[in-house]
Amino acid sequence: MLNCLGRLEYRGYDSCGVAVSSSGIEVYKDVVRVEALKKALPRVSGTVGIGHTRWATHGEPSQVNAHPHCDCHGSIAVVHNGIINNFQRLKRQLISEGHNFVSETDTEVIPHLIEKYYHGNLEEAVEAALHDVEGSYAIIATRAGEPKLVAARKDSPLIIGIGDRENFIASDVPAILDYTDRVIYLEDGDIGVVTSDTIKIRSDGIEVTRGEHKILWSVEDAQKAGYEHFMLKEIHEQPKVIRDTLGEYAQATEPVVDLEVMRDEGIESMLILACGTSYHAALVGKYIVEELLRIPVRAEIASEFNYYPQTLARTAAIVITQSGETADTLKAIGRLKEVGCRVVAITNVVGSSASRIADQTIYTRAGPEISVAATKSFVAQLMVLYWLALSYSKAGVRRLESLSMGLRQLPSKVQQVLDDEDIIREYADYLSGYEDVFFIGRGINFPVALEGALKLKEISYIHAEGYAAGELKHGPFALLGSDTPVIAIVAQDSTYEAMLTNIKEVKARGSPVIALAGEGDEAIGELADSVITVPQVDALFSPVVNTVVLQLLAYYTAKQRGCSIDFPRNLAKSVTVE
Ligand code: AGP
Repeated sequence: MLNCLGRLEYRGYDSCGVAVSSSGIEVYKDVVRVEALKKALPRVSGTVGIGHTRWATHGEPSQVNAHPHCDCHGSIAVVHNGIINNFQRLKRQLISEGHNFVSETDTEVIPHLIEKYYHGNLEEAVEAALHDVEGSYAIIATRAGEPKLVAARKDSPLIIGIGDRENFIASDVPAILDYTDRVIYLEDGDIGVVTSDTIKIRSDGIEVTRGEHKILWSVEDAQKAGYEHFMLKEIHEQPKVIRDTLGEYAQATEPVVDLEVMRDEGIESMLILACGTSYHAALVGKYIVEELLRIPVRAEIASEFNYYPQTLARTAAIVITQSGETADTLKAIGRLKEVGCRVVAITNVVGSSASRIADQTIYTRAGPEISVAATKSFVAQLMVLYWLALSYSKAGVRRLESLSMGLRQLPSKVQQVLDDEDIIREYADYLSGYEDVFFIGRGINFPVALEGALKLKEISYIHAEGYAAGELKHGPFALLGSDTPVIAIVAQDSTYEAMLTNIKEVKARGSPVIALAGEGDEAIGELADSVITVPQVDALFSPVVNTVVLQLLAYYTAKQRGCSIDFPRNLAKSVTVE
């Protein structure tokens, strides 16, 4: 169980705990990582257990707030992902009925509700408890003396792994891959009752069958393979990820997404929604689709989209989410569907919530991404967007041929960047001494500036801002000076001259400038303090090579500063709460 938990640590890691159930329940939890818990644990015995790694939402990371949580008598234990919105009211009610609470968490109401409704049958008690609960959850409950686990989900992922005389329940596949590749995905409203040799699933009180899936990736895919960090391994996998993702669709005989049908339906514009790094892919997608399809595209942050009335007539909607479980993005899909939009999801996780609620899913073939910082998933998302736009582009034959050729060459161009990582490492050593960094770009490389800044801030804790290069003069100039380096992303496109002007302006304010520029760009060498040369590609593909440089820059800067690269502070891989 501890091994399984270790593999899920990227989902949250501010504290962790386990409960082992036999005739009684023994709980061990603390504000430590799984490895430390493993060492601190006394010998415990039992054949049923639950464990959890936490990403705090209600109550600070502390021993008492860590999961599992128990009822008054310590005979029912529960682990929970998600948020119980009405927990304050439930807690007041339970306290008035004599229940004692010890933590600040929303989760603790669940074991107490199960205790309240327990009349000899754990699954019935769980079902009754969840009737009272509003919010999102994936829970597993166990009770002393009952050799089984009861699991339930709503808006938060949960899978069952089918083993050999042992079964598993987990929130994600890597947890169980050491033991089995046979998986059942629970659906919203399902209650699963799992023993070592039986699995029963009920929905609305009726027994249901959910299909079994074989996981196609292996334990090795979810391990570091000799790299010091998952992030570095995942950055280095990108040439393969590009080949795999493009290979999948280039060989498709049928269009995976029929944009022609959308056009027949009078579609005149496109909306792309996502969060974080996936939102930056959406922004790059806006430039790609507008150039190749000549339709207007809005790229929006899902959490913002969710709170305003929308006019979406004749709009095709795409959502991008690596995990397929980001709460804000899932809510956006719900809203889109409510107003009658047909939703295409681009996701990396087969069977994820996004893939199940969208009308159509296009999978990126990035393989499991464990590091909290998204890298290869971003590049894979771009590949899907390039492929989609190219498939339906109205550009001339020669331009299309040249772009197709450019796409095929991208793996070797990215490999070229990776082969030169020692040079990037030197720049990282330099950057690691600063506390503020600006990233600037224009056009299709403006989102790359945003992504470069996000990568640097999230893993090195250096304050970094991504800006449209032309916007610096409208305020941020006030922050420039010798202690604020500026990374300028320069592409050989219509923005080139304007970008050179912006670099001159920055230099005049005393900031050191490191430019990313294509091979053979001599003008830039005379302006910038230093230049990281990137392989020559069509400007439309420049976000790919430029982003890989910035990923390496962030990685080595964080390494130089001794940061926890795969598990940055306060973050989690999938953000399943709003
Ligand atoms: C970036 O490195 C992060 N991991 C984060 O911004 C992430 O892209 C965001 O939380 C969205 O996740 P998703 O793609 O799984 O929806």
